[in-house]
Amino acid sequence: MNLIGTSSLRLLASFVTFACATASEIYQIPSALSNAPSHAQFTSGITGLDAPKVHPINASAFDWWYFDIVSTDPSSFASAVVVFYTASSTAIPSQAPSNMTLPVQIWLTFPNGTQIFAQTQADAATVTAEGDFSSGDWHGSGFAWRHAPNSGSYEILINAPDSQIKGSINFQPRAPAHYPCGPAQGGQNMEVGPQIGWANALPDAASTVDLIVSGTKLFFSGAGYHDKNWSDQPLVSNVASWYWGHCRIGPYSIVWFDFLALNGTEYVSAYASKDDSILVASCEPGSIRVRPTGQDSTYPPHISTGDPSGYHITLDLGIESSLELNVSVEVQIAAIPPIYTRSKGRVTGVLTTVGTAVEEMAGVALFEQLVLTE
Ligand SMILES: *[C@@H]1O[C@H](CO)[C@@H](O)[C@H](O)[C@H]1NC(C)=O
Ligand SMILES: *[C@@H]1O[C@H](CO)[C@@H](O)[C@H](O)[C@H]1NC(C)=O
Ligand SMILES: *[C@@H]1O[C@H](CO)[C@@H](O)[C@H](O)[C@H]1NC(C)=O
Ligand SMILES: *[C@@H]1O[C@H](CO)[C@@H](O)[C@H](O)[C@H]1NC(C)=O
Ligand SMILES: *[C@@H]1O[C@H](CO)[C@@H](O)[C@H](O)[C@H]1NC(C)=O
Ligand SMILES: *[C@@H]1O[C@H](CO)[C@@H](O)[C@H](O)[C@H]1NC(C)=O
Repeated sequence: MNLIGTSSLRLLASFVTFACATASEIYQIPSALSNAPSHAQFTSGITGLDAPKVHPINASAFDWWYFDIVSTDPSSFASAVVVFYTASSTAIPSQAPSNMTLPVQIWLTFPNGTQIFAQTQADAATVTAEGDFSSGDWHGSGFAWRHAPNSGSYEILINAPDSQIKGSINFQPRAPAHYPCGPAQGGQNMEVGPQIGWANALPDAASTVDLIVSGTKLFFSGAGYHDKNWSDQPLVSNVASWYWGHCRIGPYSIVWFDFLALNGTEYVSAYASKDDSILVASCEPGSIRVRPTGQDSTYPPHISTGDPSGYHITLDLGIESSLELNVSVEVQIAAIPPIYTRSKGRVTGVLTTVGTAVEEMAGVALFEQLVLTE
């Protein structure tokens, strides 16, 4: 009885999604926490990759839109990260206790390394999902993002007098979207690990930051990135640790996720694209391996084992070739000691192709380590 009910419901849901494939869906999200059970979606629809995935937001739930850009100029420390949350402060360890669910956070690093952090709260949020992309407005915060269907670009628009930040950040896609285990298609598993949803709308983008921060201009271009993640359970209930990051190296756009669940099981997600087509989008064990290197490189990591100075990444590009990357921390751009660090860094790589010479490459990366268990 129950089974029949579930499958006819799913049939109805996929028919509706198909019928509305090109229409936009508008979600109005209140700032108050809900007392009702949350429902999280973990299997993809035909569209809606960047749409909200958790309704409503109760005290265990989070669903957020993350954007970053890292300068590709080797002499610059510049980076920017903007996060739009629909989240309970008790669901993710980074938040100060609050009954508000709609913070926006921004971290900016100037070319010389000077850093700025600001946070504001929205009164309500609107997310408009169109195809696999979205626009969002965090009302009253001065922060919004827009997707332009014609050019495919994303733009973050900021007019936040309280934080003294004004301007825009632009993202022109240069790598196809994907889910943890495959391309942006219906019926995909969206869990990167147990109960943690992840969808990567922009694995790499040609980006420009054009802001005025307290009267000072912050202008740079680089590699941009946008994803979202979500759950209806607190992060600490499902994650022991993870390494995540993205880099642009030679002709490749790479995204890595290497995740340890509480029972010690390792989950991975490997992504590589070249010339705007996907080479690898896989969550098969062994498709990618990320391990800490240098100082404090204990594996598996514990809260007390500190932050490594780099990572060694092995990525299988199929029967033809494999990529070995060394990522090294250049500057920390955010931290919640001792559990979380986000860094900008450099990456060197060697591509080994059967029957061809070994090719050496270099590039930039933005990456993080999260460790929630001792
Ligand atoms: C949050 O709490 C404050 C006081 O602590 C209260 O004034 C405010 O109305 C609450 N907001 C919501 C959205 O519940
Ligand atoms: C939120 O909803 C989820 C899923 O229904 C449920 O497991 C969780 O206990 C709820 N959280 C709270 C604080 O009620
Ligand atoms: C770094 O750059 C910022 C922004 O231009 C400036 O305000 C600051 O004084 C500079 N810091 C140093 C140490 O040069
Ligand atoms: C969500 O993903 C972003 C970027 O991948 C990462 O910085 C963040 O730690 C993740 N957070 C959660 C709560 O999953
Ligand atoms: C950990 O949990 C997963 C999912 O429930 C299960 O498949 C796996 O066998 C478990 N591993 C261990 C070592 O218990
Ligand atoms: C990565 O670092 C190891 C250890 O220092 C070194 O042996 C290897 O050649 C490096 N590989 C790349 C691609 O830089």
